[in-house]
Amino acid sequence: MKIFIDSADMNEIRKANAMGLLDGVTTNPSLAAKAGRKDFEQLLKEICREVNGPVSAEVVSTDTPGMLAEAEKLVKIHSNIVIKIPLTEEGLNAVKTLSGKGIKTNVTLCFSPTQALLAAKAGATYISPFVGRLDDIAQDGMSLVSEIITIYRNYGYKTQVLVASVRSPMHVVKAALMGADVVTIPFSVIPQLVSHPLTDKGLARFLEDWKKLQGK
Ligand code: E4P
Repeated sequence: MKIFIDSADMNEIRKANAMGLLDGVTTNPSLAAKAGRKDFEQLLKEICREVNGPVSAEVVSTDTPGMLAEAEKLVKIHSNIVIKIPLTEEGLNAVKTLSGKGIKTNVTLCFSPTQALLAAKAGATYISPFVGRLDDIAQDGMSLVSEIITIYRNYGYKTQVLVASVRSPMHVVKAALMGADVVTIPFSVIPQLVSHPLTDKGLARFLEDWKKLQGK
C-alpha cells in the first residue's frame, strides 16, 4: 500500500519524507488555507521538488470548462501533478476529458459506491473515499472502501482506491487489510503508526542492562 501525506505544510512534508515513508502528497484548498499558502503554484513546486511521487492539486472551479482551464495550468507545474476534481456531474465531465488526454485525476469527496463506480467509468486515476467524514456522521467509512474495492475488482477497473480523510491508525490498518491502493494520512497520525509502549519499554530495558554491563 502506498502512503501519501495529506498536507500543505512543507515542514510536515519534509519530516515525513525524511522517514522514508512518503510515496506522494495530497493537498486541498482547506489544507492550503491552514498552512497559509496563498501561493498555491509555488507551494506545488516546492512539494514536487521534495517528494518524488504523485502530488494531488485540487481545482476550485465548479464548472467543467473552468476545471479544465485550471487543470491545463496545474499540469504544467510538474509531471507528477495529479488533478483533484470534486465528484459532481461537472467534475465527471472534466475527468472524462482529462483522462482522454492522458492527464491523471484524483476524484475527491466520494461518499458512496455509486459515485466511485461513475468516477471509474469516467477514467479516474484515483478515487478518494472520505472515511473520517462518514464516521463523523455515524456511517462506517471503511465499509465504503470495502464496497468500492469489491466493485472495482468485479469489473477490473484500474482506478486506484485512495483512502482519504483518515483520522486514526485503525483506518490505516483496515485499509491495508482490505487491499486499498493508497492511504493519505495527516501528519498527526504518523507518530501513532510508529510508537508502541512495548518498544519504549524494551528499549529502556536494553539500555539499562547495557549500562549495568559496563559497570555504570
Ligand atoms: C483528501 O485528499 C483530503 O484532502 C482529505 O483527506 C480530507 O480530510 P479531512 O476530512 O480530514 O479534511
